[in-house]
Amino acid sequence: MVADGNIKLEVEGLSLSFGSVMALIDVSFRAREGEILALIGPNGAGKTSLLNCISGFYHPRHGQVRFNGLEINRVSPSRRAKLGISRTFQNIELYKGLTALDNLMAARHVFIKYGPVAGSIFFGKARKEEIENRSIVEEIIDLLELAEARHRVVESLAYGLRKRVDLGRALALEPKLLLLDEPMAGMNVEEKEDMARFILDIQELKHIPIIIVEHDMGVVMDISHRVVVLDFGTKIAEGSPQEIKRNEKVISAYLGKANQSGERAK
Ligand SMILES: Nc1ncnc2c1ncn2[C@@H]1O[C@H](COP(=O)(O)OP(=O)(O)OP(=O)(O)O)[C@@H](O)[C@H]1O
Ligand SMILES: [Mg+2]
Repeated sequence: MVADGNIKLEVEGLSLSFGSVMALIDVSFRAREGEILALIGPNGAGKTSLLNCISGFYHPRHGQVRFNGLEINRVSPSRRAKLGISRTFQNIELYKGLTALDNLMAARHVFIKYGPVAGSIFFGKARKEEIENRSIVEEIIDLLELAEARHRVVESLAYGLRKRVDLGRALALEPKLLLLDEPMAGMNVEEKEDMARFILDIQELKHIPIIIVEHDMGVVMDISHRVVVLDFGTKIAEGSPQEIKRNEKVISAYLGKANQSGERAK
């Protein structure tokens, strides 16, 4: 699998530290249209920190993030979401007391330009927008097979289904770049297969770059076009899944070690 679309995301020389901990050290990579890029590495390697720098939750000490050719270092997380950078979280962040449908609609409201007062003046416009939001959300419910969760509150859903609603929430923002932080963690084999299928469906349908952090190497090697490997905040390798599997540095830093100790990489 080779993705040869235009470059959408450029990360250049990113460094980030927390006190004496260097979470990222001079990390650079690019992501292209229509590509599934896996970000792997041992626990604490800096994967989530890197996603946080791209989505704007963390501010790197050095380096640049460019999206669609635009330097976005000083752009806020909410503005980045409006530009189309959308993500799921390692620890699911949904309104637990709301239904799946209401969670997706809440995500859509990021786009609503008319507040309650303006909404009553321009009632027609606001109503039209609400109908459009609903239709986008219904498409997502179809795509991710969420019909059974539609009217159930999120806290009552099985974990795998909750992760799927979280992916739906990220999709509701009509992403132009999707960042998935361990979307399959804690899932059983069947749930993982479903999630892998949904990610491939999204890639085919939207043709956007998808960056996925994942510890399950079977999944990573199956669905990604390219893999970037972090270890102690440093990029130690980048290449096709086949190249990464054979890479000595990666085997000793992560794959081999994980196999021997039964750690999370599988
Ligand atoms: N908000 C924070 N405050 C302090 N240290 C942090 C913070 N976020 C991350 N770190 C530290 O930065 C390093 C990288 O953490 P990060 O969460 O990015 O790793 P990760 O690769 O996502 O790990 P995992 O596979 O366990 O999710 C770790 O040493 C971590 O303790
Ligand atoms: Mg993490």
